[in-house]
Parts: sequence; structure tokens; C-alpha cells
Amino acid sequence: MRLPTMLCAASVLAAAAAFAQRPGFNYDEAKVPSYKLPNPLAFNNGEPVRSPADWTNRRRAEVLALFAEHVYGRAPARPEELHFDLLEQDDNALDGKARRKQAAVYFTADKQGPRMELLLYLPPETAKPVPVFLAPNFGGNHTIHPDPAIRLSTSWMRAQGAGVVDHRATEASRGTSAGRWAVDKILERGYGLATVYYGDIDPDFDDGFQNGVHQLDASRDSGSWGSLAAWAWGLSRALDYLETDADIDSGRVALMGHSRLGKAALWAGAADERFAIVISNDSGCGGAALSRRRFGETVKRINTSFPHWFNDNFTAYNDNEDALPVDQHMLLALIAPRPLYVAGAKEDLWADPNGEFLSAMHAGAVYELLGEKGLGVARRPAVEQPIMNTVGYHLRKGKHDVTEYDWLRYLDFADMHWGR
Ligand code: GCU
Repeated sequence: MRLPTMLCAASVLAAAAAFAQRPGFNYDEAKVPSYKLPNPLAFNNGEPVRSPADWTNRRRAEVLALFAEHVYGRAPARPEELHFDLLEQDDNALDGKARRKQAAVYFTADKQGPRMELLLYLPPETAKPVPVFLAPNFGGNHTIHPDPAIRLSTSWMRAQGAGVVDHRATEASRGTSAGRWAVDKILERGYGLATVYYGDIDPDFDDGFQNGVHQLDASRDSGSWGSLAAWAWGLSRALDYLETDADIDSGRVALMGHSRLGKAALWAGAADERFAIVISNDSGCGGAALSRRRFGETVKRINTSFPHWFNDNFTAYNDNEDALPVDQHMLLALIAPRPLYVAGAKEDLWADPNGEFLSAMHAGAVYELLGEKGLGVARRPAVEQPIMNTVGYHLRKGKHDVTEYDWLRYLDFADMHWGR
């Protein structure tokens, strides 16, 4: 009799912890409202999408435009003046385990203008170009590894966390997020890792779109890019650099993002078909999770807490999700037929792991039309029982985070798709 009582008490405590964080949101599957998802395989005029060519030549562009217009916002093209400088290279970095490169990506002709820095670790013996994971970071490139040679970010930082004083990083923040970056494992398995700091692209606060790359685009309206679209745009500019680097197999770049950067990675992967694999880690609302479920974070809540993330049109769907012309399974479908991996965490109810799974499952209709398998299952697998088809999925135990477990699955997924 004691055990069930204890289990019950533990689950009440766990639920209380989740609710204590953000009261007033639904974490109960039984209370998810009934909803009807828009059909990715029907044109805006209602006609059915019948063939792969219908999707590839016409419907895909419609869905992309719907997300740009109603959710993330339209971004400009690659600037003509975009250019790069290799700032540093060491072929004997990390005690001989890596070749390190650091490059500046200038978004305009002006080297004092908006720019980002890209950090690259490659396996040291690169006889031929290597596939790379590109993943944006939250705290500056210098936080992903204690390596003292990583250039300390001088960009705006959130004024929280170790080693951040007055919105600038100090040495104390070096390596502070290393636990989220399986650098050794990535290199051991023969991949490179490229990262950029998201604050270089656009500082993450609401300033009326004056700073970061938004300053490159003077003509704003309610459909213009928010910060998620700006970060996504920056990831495409990172890929522009990778295409110029002879050490990199730029046809094999796997884009991975966590949380808000998972949302950005999905939008980048949807909008830019050069990304060969797209991976969403705990991306939640506005990422992989279905908006209509209203489980955990909602459209209204995300637009209220983060008014700068989406375009202004998206606020029309606050408490009005059923009016959205899209849902997030259609964002995932924009990745098709390329491999896509969606990962959630059991305790990360705020991000609605079940909604992330269902979204990946429903994207399967487009994968199947294009002759790929999609997820290939109709029920969410058990914790840490990954599924890997053209669409992959796992539910990790634990909380909102990126762990070695996640990275090892992404490496397995890339090995599987790239025959390594
Ligand atoms: C908040 C936000 C999420 C986001 C997360 C993050 O929790 O509500 O939507 O994913 O921050 O980026 O860390």
C-alpha cells in the first residue's frame, strides 16, 4: 500500500512543480480541446494536392508563404555585400583533437556593421570535406566549450547567468554551457560542429526591431520578420559561409536548434532547402508543437511574453488558434523530403511533447506523397525508444535541455541517412 501512495505523492509534487512555474495553462491531455488540423495536401482554394509535382511546384510555396505572412514574417534575401573573414585557425586545437576555425560573417559591406562570428570545430584529419552540425547557441560561442582560444563574445547578452555583467560577457562565462555541447562525441564520430551566437544576429528583446539584422530592412509592416525569422535568416548566412569552406561538405549540413532556437532552426530549414537534415530539440509552441492543442504554452502567451519573436499578424491568433490557416505539422512538412528529427523531453510539458510528436506524425502525409516513410508509427513511442525513419522522434527522460542522449541520437540519425 505504501508504494502507490508514495508514487501518487511524487506525481502530485511533480505536477505542482510544473503548475507552480506557469499557472493557468493546461497540462491535462483530457482537457485538450477537439480541433481540426488544416490539410497540407489541399491547396488554399480547396483543391486536392494529387502528385509530388503538385506539392513541389505549387503547394509547398503556398504553405511557405502562409507561414511567412501569418507566423514568422518575411525576411530579405541574402545581402549582396555579405562577406566573410577567417579570423583564426588552429589545426591542433583541443589537445590535437580538433581543427578550430573562427570566422566573421559581415551582413553588409561595413565591417563595423551587423556581423556574427562563427566557431567551427572539425576532426583534425580531414582528408575530405566533412559533414557538419550547425547549431546556434544562447550565450556566446565561448560558452560552448572551456577552450580558452574561443573569442569572448562582445555582443549583447541577457543580463542573467554566470559571467554576464551589464549585458556583456566576461571570462567567467567561458564554457558555462559546455554540458549541452557534445563536442568530443561529434568529433569522434567524424563530424564537424559549427555554432553562432543568436544575439549576434538579433538581440533577444523587444526594441521595435531597431537592432541586429532588422536594421538592414527599413520597410516594416505587420508581415515583416520577427526575431525567430531573423535568427533563421542568420543560420542561412552561416550556411553561406560553410559553402565557402573547403573543409566542409556543405551538402551535408544538419541544422539543430534547442527551444526558441529549435523554432528558428525549423523555420530556417523550411525556408532554406540547402539544409540537408533539420533537428528540433524541445522547440515547443511556435516550433514543432501543434498550436491548436493549447497544451502548455499557448499562442497568446508566447505573443505576450515575447512580442518580438513572431510577426505582428500572428497576434490575430491569440485565443483564436482554430483560425490559423496553418498548424505546425505543415511547418515540419516543409522540410520534406529531407530527413527531419523531432525530440521532446518527458518533463517538458510547457513545450507539449505529445503535440510535438503528433505534429511530426501528421507531417508524414507529405513525406509519403514524396515517396518517403515519414515517422512510420501512429503512437508515441516509450521514453528513450527512438524512432528513425525519414522522420525521427524521441522522448527523452528529464527536463527541458539538450543532453548527450539527444546528441547521440542525432549522430545516429545522421549516420543512418548519410550511410556512415
Ligand atoms: C520560454 C518560452 C519557450 C521557449 C523557451 C526557450 O520558456 O516560453 O517558448 O522555447 O523559453 O527558448 O528557452
